[in-house]
Amino acid sequence: MRLSKPAARPGVLVLTNENPEWPEDDKQWNDRMLAHMSAALDHLGFRHEVHKVYADLKLLDRFDPREWIVWNWVEELGGKPWTDAVAARAFERRGFAFTGASSQALTGSVDRMQIKQRLMRAGLPTLPGIRLGQPRLAPRWKIYPAIVKGATQHGSFGIDHASVVHNPDELAERLSWLRENLGCDGQVEKFLDSREFHVGALAGPTGRLEGLPPGEIDYSAFEQAEDRLYSYGYKHDETNFGYHAVKVQVPADVSVRLGRRLRQLAAAALVALGARDYGRIDIRLDGDEPMILDVNVNCDLDATSVVMRGAAARGLGYTDVIGRILGGALQRLSGDVVRRGRSTREAAAESIVAVV
Ligand SMILES: Nc1ncnc2c1ncn2[C@@H]1O[C@H](COP(=O)(O)OP(=O)(O)OP(=O)(O)O)[C@@H](O)[C@H]1O
Ligand SMILES: [Mg+2]
Repeated sequence: MRLSKPAARPGVLVLTNENPEWPEDDKQWNDRMLAHMSAALDHLGFRHEVHKVYADLKLLDRFDPREWIVWNWVEELGGKPWTDAVAARAFERRGFAFTGASSQALTGSVDRMQIKQRLMRAGLPTLPGIRLGQPRLAPRWKIYPAIVKGATQHGSFGIDHASVVHNPDELAERLSWLRENLGCDGQVEKFLDSREFHVGALAGPTGRLEGLPPGEIDYSAFEQAEDRLYSYGYKHDETNFGYHAVKVQVPADVSVRLGRRLRQLAAAALVALGARDYGRIDIRLDGDEPMILDVNVNCDLDATSVVMRGAAARGLGYTDVIGRILGGALQRLSGDVVRRGRSTREAAAESIVAVV
């Protein structure tokens, strides 16, 4: 739907990071994502510009935060992993409203132990775990099988079948591996060989996060428990058998009760971690009880993502989801700028009604 006064709306500055050294396939993937986004913004009637950034965000100098909001797809700067918070901080310093989590929420969702502590403080279910650095400390952990994840890694970096360990020797070996290969400590917790759900959340019409229908990860192609986990290879490596064999069923086939519980947990966990506009949690069952494994305040939003597919199960198309997310950023636009006789907040409020 178009606004009666579209000129009063801010433009959308779509920013994504692209490393010149990326393989051609990754660049093409990025281009496809941007093309989808551009089409959605056209459909919603938003003036927009699309820019790729690499080392810095100097191009922001050319844009006025009273005239533009940022669609934030900047996951790293200068090829340095986990620098999404640096980009968000740059938007904040310059006064841009932007989509997704604040720099504070992004910073707070790097360390897995911090995530667990926040979840526990909010009364949400997550597995007890410990952070171990030195391999010689492995005997401190008593529950097996266990999974060892990089304490500050995400995107399944460092997750493969050898992440599952069965005794202190294997645990010590994996801790050494993490130190040598990823330069980080290990986060150890019980390995749950059980159903796995990924559950998205999206801002509702009022901007509050609402859980979406869950997706279930189908590992039925694999016999061994150690192969039934969403490894780096399954997620990102087209030559890996699991990349093709692991399916994500959305919506998951769950009871009404479990579906409701999963959606509630997604919204509550993302709020606890300070997410805005969208996000996703990953869960496995411990008996009947869902346990939150991971909270992603900056999750995938491509057309095949669990957020998009969960929204589709609710009758929301790609463009609707983009509109909802932009609605969040528009709400955050500073109200102290008066343009053409009215504040941008008024213009934003009008936009929210128009795009949701
Ligand atoms: N306690 C656990 N028990 C069983 N499997 C687990 C456990 N924790 C993680 N996994 C498996 O490992 C995968 C990756 O773990 P997790 O989601 O915590 O890591 P991540 O690297 O942050 O992933 P993402 O790509 O979502 O950022 C999960 O999807 C799940 O398959
Ligand atoms: Mg995960």
